[in-house]
Amino acid sequence: MNHAYEHIQEAASYIQSRTSARPEIGLILGSGLGVLADLVENPVTIPYREIPHFPVSTVEGHAGDLLIGTIEGRAVVMMKGRFHMYEGYGPEVTAFPVRVMKAIGAEKLLVTNAAGGINTSYEPGDLMVISDHLNLTGRNPLIGANDSRLGVRFPDMSQAYSPRLRQLAKATAEGQGFSLREGVYAGLLGPNYETPAEIRMLRTMGADAVGMSTVSEVIVASHAGLEVLGISCISNMAAGILDQPLSHDEVMETADKVKDAFLKLVLALIPKM
Ligand code: HPA
Repeated sequence: MNHAYEHIQEAASYIQSRTSARPEIGLILGSGLGVLADLVENPVTIPYREIPHFPVSTVEGHAGDLLIGTIEGRAVVMMKGRFHMYEGYGPEVTAFPVRVMKAIGAEKLLVTNAAGGINTSYEPGDLMVISDHLNLTGRNPLIGANDSRLGVRFPDMSQAYSPRLRQLAKATAEGQGFSLREGVYAGLLGPNYETPAEIRMLRTMGADAVGMSTVSEVIVASHAGLEVLGISCISNMAAGILDQPLSHDEVMETADKVKDAFLKLVLALIPKM
C-alpha cells in the first residue's frame, strides 16, 4: 500500500498547525544560496526534523529548515536545504517537500541550484535560467502506482519550465543591467563530479550545465501542475574544460560571490511571479 498521499497530508497539516499563512510560491535553495532565506520577512521556521515524514539533509552547506513568511508581500514557503539522491534518498523522497508545498497552497515553484558550466561560453558566476532538463539520474519520482489526486499517470513535460516565468526572469535581469544565460540542465546522480569524457558526452547531448539536484523536484512539480522557474548559478566550469580540479569549496565560493545579484533578482521576481 502506498501511504504517500497520507504522508503529504500529515506533513501539510502539521505545517498549517504552526502558521496560518497560505504560501503561494515555493522556493528551493541550492548550495551556497541559503542566504536567500534572509529575504523572508516574519518567517515561521520549522526544522525539517519536526515535520512528519520529512527527511533530514546531511550535506555540508545545506541547512534543514522550512521557512514560511513573505517576500515583497507575497506569501512564500522556502526550503533552506534540499534532499539529494546521492545522500541515499529515493527520487520520490527528494521531491516529497514539493508535494507538501503544493498541499499547503503553493502554485508556483522557484528552484535554484549550483551547476557546472558545460557551455564553453559560460563563466563561473553566470546565472542561467533553465529552459529544459535532461533527467540522467536513471531514476524517476513518479514510478509506482499513480495516485490521481497528485497528478496524471503520464504527465506532459514539454513546458516543465514555464515560458512565462523564463521570459519574466530574463526581462527582470535586463532591467537590472545584466543578462541571464538560458540553457538545458543535465541532472545526474553524483556525488562525484563528472569525468571530462562525461562532460563531452553531455555537451553532445545538448546540455549547457550539469548538477546533482532539481530534476526529480521539477518532475514532481510538473506532475502536480506547479508553474516552475529554475535558475542555476554556474559555480564552476565542468570537468575537463579548465586545467584544474573541481571542488565543493569552489562551488561555495562562487555562490557566495553572486549572492548579491541573486538576491536582488529574486527580490524583484517574486512580486511578479
Ligand atoms: N557538476 C555537478 N554538479 C555540480 C557541479 C558540477 O560541475 N558544480 C556544482 N554542482
